[in-house]
Amino acid sequence: MGAQHQLFFICFSHLLAAFAIASATGPLVGGYKQVQPNETHIQDLGKYAVSTYNKRSGVKLSFISVVEAKEQVVAGANYKLAIQAFEEPFVRVYKAIVWEKPWLKFMNLTSFEPVLA
Ligand SMILES: *[C@@H]1O[C@H](CO)[C@@H](O)[C@H](O)[C@H]1NC(C)=O
Ligand SMILES: *[C@@H]1O[C@H](CO)[C@@H](O)[C@H](O)[C@H]1NC(C)=O
Repeated sequence: MGAQHQLFFICFSHLLAAFAIASATGPLVGGYKQVQPNETHIQDLGKYAVSTYNKRSGVKLSFISVVEAKEQVVAGANYKLAIQAFEEPFVRVYKAIVWEKPWLKFMNLTSFEPVLA
């Protein structure tokens, strides 16, 4: 291999490594924009967030609705949701972040916590 080929190969490996790191550490940071919470897709993300949270933490929240939603376009999109859910005897609002890569049918709940009044 000539020196030039070697240099190219090294640069290319670095590029691959950078991509690997980017995909391993998740979405890159950008701005969030408000989206209509009444869309079916947003409500579905809210249902997913509540059911995933229930599975992970062994609680039994009942999804009511997404009342506010913000979207961040990344490797896919992050959705910050304000979700109303019911847990005997309270209706509370929870903040959730769902990361979605629709072309891979990938979705993950990366954060879920009650909004403290
Ligand atoms: C969502 O709400 C907005 C404003 O309230 C309305 O203009 C829009 O048509 C609604 N969209 C759906 C899918 O219901
Ligand atoms: C999904 O997110 C949770 C919480 O951040 C994390 O522990 C888990 O590894 C993630 N799963 C995938 C497949 O990215």
